Amino acid sequence: MNSSLQEYFFVFSGDGGTLGHSELYALLETYGNDFSEVFRRNRFALLRAEKLENMEKVLERGAYVLAGCKHLGNTKLDNMHTVHSIDLSGVLKDIETFRIDCYDFADTRSSVVVEGKLAAIIKKNHPQLEVSMKNPDATFVAVIRGDTISLGYSLAEKARQKWGERRPKTRPFFHAAALFPKFARCLVNLSRTKYGEIFLDPFCGSGTIVMEATLLGLDAIGIDISDELCRGSLQNLKALGLPTYTIVQGDARDIPLSSVGGIAADIPYGKISAGSGLNSRELIEDFFDNACQVLEPNKHVALVHPELVKFSAKGFSIVAQHKIRVHRSLTRVVAEYRRNS
Ligand SMILES: C[S@@+](CC[C@H](N)C(=O)[O-])C[C@H]1O[C@@H](n2cnc3c(N)ncnc32)[C@H](O)[C@@H]1O
Repeated sequence: MNSSLQEYFFVFSGDGGTLGHSELYALLETYGNDFSEVFRRNRFALLRAEKLENMEKVLERGAYVLAGCKHLGNTKLDNMHTVHSIDLSGVLKDIETFRIDCYDFADTRSSVVVEGKLAAIIKKNHPQLEVSMKNPDATFVAVIRGDTISLGYSLAEKARQKWGERRPKTRPFFHAAALFPKFARCLVNLSRTKYGEIFLDPFCGSGTIVMEATLLGLDAIGIDISDELCRGSLQNLKALGLPTYTIVQGDARDIPLSSVGGIAADIPYGKISAGSGLNSRELIEDFFDNACQVLEPNKHVALVHPELVKFSAKGFSIVAQHKIRVHRSLTRVVAEYRRNS
């Protein structure tokens, strides 16, 4: 391994499956980070990079990522004293208080014991340190994976997310095809839109994706062919209490915009969200033809569509595809596309 390279690990909530990893990698890319994946297992990923930047933003924006850490080393579940061999000097400078957060991916039910033992061992070696659960100077993250514990130094605190407060049934305007906010946030991130760029959802329905993008502080625009849904979106956005939001009634096949930074959308399917009378394949292909004018080369589209709908996205390359379960019996494909240069 090149000596200037560091190891980092990330922990995911798991409900996004492979979307969680893709979302993180999209965010790291958005913030100009160069990295390689060493390995991933379900809710854990180990990466290598010279330095990861803007981790506060990456963790704040991410829907499925729970923690991001500099990897300090590994210890054994049955012999945690090997933690002594991990050099903590670099991270303990100027630190008076710390906390340990444990994730138990091996289902050992020993998180509390691990947190306590590791804290006691660290304190024994560094008696000046105090444990503080609230606002500590440093947070260590311990991940139990099989008989190994990976120990990391948290790069940023992740604020508690209030997804439940924005679920479809709590909004002033309800639409049966509305997405859940956590999933919608992930789609925004997969579009790799940067601050200062325009984010677009050209099939915005009741506005879930636009709401998440607006909450992130992006310049978000929603378009829908239905006047009723445009009004509904506006009601839902107004309820967020944010100063600016834009919803335009229009057709996703003829978008009056250029230089958009990224697009994410949940395409119409079935009777509930049809709207333009075209079948889904024709509609998506027409949308991609138009998206070539709307997006600059190398910009991204994240699209949710039914598995059965086959289409070609002319002018775009596929970056990744995920099969996901939206509701109990509803499976969808989430596909990431990059506009060809
Ligand atoms: C699956 S719904 C989007 C639901 C939305 N993500 C939400 O959370 O509420 C798809 C939307 O596409 C709209 N639509 C259908 N054809 C369209 C077109 N040609 N241009 C723009 N919007 C269209 C429908 O009116 C519908 O609201």
